[in-house]
This record gives sequence, C-alpha cells and structure tokens, in this order.
Amino acid sequence: MRRIRKMTEQERMQWFRDAKLGLFIHWGPYSLLGRCEWAFRLDGYKVKEYEKVAEGFTGDGFDADQWCAMAVKAGMKYIVLTARHHDGYCLFDSKVSPFTSVKGTPKRDFIREYTDAARRAGLKVGLYYSLVDWRYKGAWDHDRYPESVAAMVQQAHDQVRELMTDYGRIDLLWYDGAQVTTWEWKEHEDIAEFWRARELNAMVRGLQPHIVINNRSGTVEDYVTPERKIEASKEGLPWESCLSICPLSWSYVPDSPNRKTAAAILRDLIEIAAGGGNLLLNTGPKPDGSMNETEIGSILEAGDWVKRNAEMVYHARRSPLNEFGPHGPNGCLGRWIGSDDPRVHYLAAIGWSGREFWSVRIEGKVESVTIVGSGESVAYRQEGFGRLILQDLPDMPSEPHFTVFKVTFAEPPKAQREYSRAEWIESDL
Ligand code: GLC
Repeated sequence: MRRIRKMTEQERMQWFRDAKLGLFIHWGPYSLLGRCEWAFRLDGYKVKEYEKVAEGFTGDGFDADQWCAMAVKAGMKYIVLTARHHDGYCLFDSKVSPFTSVKGTPKRDFIREYTDAARRAGLKVGLYYSLVDWRYKGAWDHDRYPESVAAMVQQAHDQVRELMTDYGRIDLLWYDGAQVTTWEWKEHEDIAEFWRARELNAMVRGLQPHIVINNRSGTVEDYVTPERKIEASKEGLPWESCLSICPLSWSYVPDSPNRKTAAAILRDLIEIAAGGGNLLLNTGPKPDGSMNETEIGSILEAGDWVKRNAEMVYHARRSPLNEFGPHGPNGCLGRWIGSDDPRVHYLAAIGWSGREFWSVRIEGKVESVTIVGSGESVAYRQEGFGRLILQDLPDMPSEPHFTVFKVTFAEPPKAQREYSRAEWIESDL
C-alpha cells in the first residue's frame, strides 16, 4: 500500500514565501459608484437602495482569462479576487444568500470563471472573503441584535464552506472585515470567538489541507497582512503587504492623478523584498469588469522590470546586511536583499550616485559583482570601514527604474556591528 506523506509546514508555505507578487482585485456593485468599496456604509445606503445599485451590475466586460493572462505577463504568481466584500454581494453561487451575481443581473458565477481561469494560467488561486456583511442589523449593533449577529456568523461559515467545497483547489483564503462591525469594536469582544474562527478555520483546513490562510479572522493562521504599509513581521512570520495602486480606494475610481506609477510600484517591491515579504498589488477594474487601463499600464511596465530582475525578485529573503535600517550599512541609496544562497546578496540601487556606488559596514570578501538583467561584470574594491565600492559605473544607469547588483561573497557576509559613540570618538577620528 502506498503511504501518503503529510506535507510539512515548510512545504505548505513554500510557494507563498517564493511568490513575492500577487494581484489583488476589488470588484463588485460598489465599482459602479466610483467612490470606493466602502460606499455602502460611508454614503449611508439603505439595503433596498443598495440592491437597486446592484441591479445595474452586469459584469459584461469581465473576462477572467484576460485578467489572468495580464497577471502572468506582469510576473505575478498568485491572484486574489473579492468573492464577497463588506456589502454582502456574492460573485459566486451562494445558496444561503439572495444577493449574488448568479441570482442577480449578470446570471454568472464569476468565481467559477475566475478560479478556472487562474488555474489554467498557472496562478495560485486566492479568494478574498469579508466576514462582515453590512446588510445585517447585527453588523451595526451586537448587543441589540444578537439573533442577527448569530445569522451573520452562520452565513460566513456556510459561505466559506461553499467556497471551499464547490470551486476545486483553493490555494489561499484572504479573510477581511472581522473588525468592521459596529462603529467601534468593543475591547471586551474577542474577534476569534465572535466569528467562531477556530472552528471555521479547522473546517477550511479539513476541506483544503494545503491552503494558506491570512490573519484576519481573529486568529494568526499562516501569515500577517500589513495594509497600505510595508512592515516585516517582527516574529519572523511570512508576510504580505497589500497596497493599492489607487490612493484611498481599493475599488474603481474613474480618475485619480495620484495613482502609483511603475517606479513607485517597484520601489515598494524592493522594500518588501528586502524584508523577505510579498507584495499583493491591488487594482480596481471598471464597473463592467474590464481592466482599468491606467493601472494595468503601470502593472505591466513594472512587470517588464520584474522579468529582467526575476533572479532577485522571486525567492527574495531578508538580508543580514540591512540590519541597520533605513540609513544602515548601505548608506541612503540602496537596499540589500538576501537569497537562498547565504553567499549571494543583491544590492538594489534606489539612488544613483554616479560612477561609484558605495555600501558600508560589509564584512566579508566579495568574489564577484554583476548586474542582474544584463549579466555585465562590475569592477569593485573593498576598503576600511567595511566599504564595498562598485566602480567604473556609467554616469547614469542604463536600467530604467532601479539597477540591481548581484554580489557573491566568498563566505556568508555579516554587517559590521554599529560602533558606540564612545568607540567612534576614540578611534582616529
Ligand atoms: C480593509 C477594508 C477593505 C479592503 C481591505 C484590503 O480592511 O475594509 O475595504 O478590502 O482592507 O486590505
């Protein structure tokens, strides 16, 4: 009899640790309003009034294959779509809610189309699911409407079960909205207990044993999700920054002059790579589900750079050489990024200082320096104060956006420890 070996924790999380780039998509009836996915609540919609909005939601322009092809082209390894946001509208065929794209105007199961397309494209399949549903009175006042609270929690359990049962293999579950019930979450309330999260997640893992689950249901699960900021987990957990191209909103806004450009996206990606995390980059499609060209343009432009620098991007790990933070061993111009080989570290030039690029407090003999992308060798010298100086560089870099140097050391390098003020003054200053 063949014995089936159980996957180790390390193996289960490996694809996620290596993925580095995922596409986040916020799309639903709120996209029609063009004022952010929170419009239901912020603009004070009544349930009936919002249902009217949803009647206009057709999804006529939604083509999951096109979306996935774009994500692959941009170097993304996974994709996460809002199966249901806080407004309660399901993009899937939920049997326990009347408010779905199958029963409503589109008469389509977008999650079916999406999960099939993502698998065809070779992307890991992620589902975003908001626990809270603002159509329940209990979502606004727990104490006054205990029955409504119980029904809302039960709906979450039933719908998560549907998503985990009816759509094949799901690689990632991205919970949200556990805390946005009532106007203020009361101190005494335990989020995990409120949503019966332990039971919920045990059910999910029973149905999808390999799945990766985020930390937004009240229990930590597999990874942490800094939102709109870049912050490596202090506990060393896997982490993913979710950032939106559009400022403030996650869903479609017709125009915004402050959208992230390709350079801004890549700047974020480098910072995240230096901390060994993932970037879940969000775009808001147009109300009909077609892509938002402005945002897609930046994603694809960033993707070209990602392709050229793939060697550094995927498998990026935290490097000990960044130990001293923003003004650390690499001065103010670069970031060190580690790899699976402890001798190989990448130095991403965020600024270009002309013909020489300095990095300091680097302990370890360098064996070679090349430019990732072109493979060109770079001349260098090493001198006191742990200086590694890349030399004979062009006045201006040839790589658009950011040049990445691959630095191979003879032994795994270390960052020289920071001097105390006394030591510094006593040295031959
Ligand atoms: C927040 C918001 C939500 C958005 C999400 C993305 O929790 O409530 O609108 O979907 O973050 O990270």
